[in-house]
Amino acid sequence: MKIDFASFKKPKPYETDSKSFWDDPHISKHMLKAHLDDHHDAASRRPHIMDAACLFLKNTYPPKQYPRVLDLGCGPGLLTARLLEKGYDAFGVDISKRSIAYAKAQFGERYFARQDYLNLDVDQRYDIIVLMYCDYAVLSPNKRQRLLQNISRVLKNDGVFVLDVFTPQRFKDRDERKSWVMQDESFFSPNPHLLLESFYRYKQDLFLEQFIIIEAARWDVINNWHQTYTLKRIKDELNQSGFRVLKYYADVTGEAYHAHSETLYLVTEKS
Ligand SMILES: C[S@@+](CC[C@H](N)C(=O)[O-])C[C@H]1O[C@@H](n2cnc3c(N)ncnc32)[C@H](O)[C@@H]1O
Repeated sequence: MKIDFASFKKPKPYETDSKSFWDDPHISKHMLKAHLDDHHDAASRRPHIMDAACLFLKNTYPPKQYPRVLDLGCGPGLLTARLLEKGYDAFGVDISKRSIAYAKAQFGERYFARQDYLNLDVDQRYDIIVLMYCDYAVLSPNKRQRLLQNISRVLKNDGVFVLDVFTPQRFKDRDERKSWVMQDESFFSPNPHLLLESFYRYKQDLFLEQFIIIEAARWDVINNWHQTYTLKRIKDELNQSGFRVLKYYADVTGEAYHAHSETLYLVTEKS
């Protein structure tokens, strides 16, 4: 095994992406467990928040006028299932084989498909497209642009695209740091490994959580990039891809936006 020591230096923005983070067989097992754990917001938000988010959507964009919803990155379908319950004709797609298998088994085969939303392939157009839990901002700029093009293609002209992003407040108290720990097994690997964890700050509200996993015969680098957004930054970026922000809130439940909010929830339309 040859280790590339260049990987231990602070990477340039988006220099390297994570390969198989969402669909790695071991990580996806732990990820599904995290999605289904009602006690924290690690992978999906807690049930009462998802309930409130669906209620807010229903009150603002009711299923009678906006029947067809596409849930991008739906994970194990917890939000999609709630949207179905609220009366929407909802469809969820996700790249994770394990999450989609769970969603299909739990809530119905026909409501879900395993898909990479960067190569979105649906034959309908939607009244509402949702991209929930700050998924947009983990993508590189090119991928974000590609995703927005896909969304624009399948969103009806009078439809809405809703998403949430983290603001710079999210990481305001975290300094750059590196740490390591020896693990028998962890979220990242079923085998004994050295786990090196780094947190890096960049200009323009970009952050990186990096995990380097070194096993006896294998090593891997997982880079989780986080672009955080001020209201101006997200408005400008969405505008450049042909979306106009109609409304914005502090969170997915519709709380009024304020300067200390860690998230921004945006309702947009095609401009
Ligand atoms: C933070 S989770 C959010 C899950 C869900 N939206 C929720 O609110 O509970 C992000 C989800 O996006 C999915 N995902 C990541 N990249 C994707 C891609 N390129 N295409 C489809 N799904 C993707 C992951 O598998 C994961 O289920």
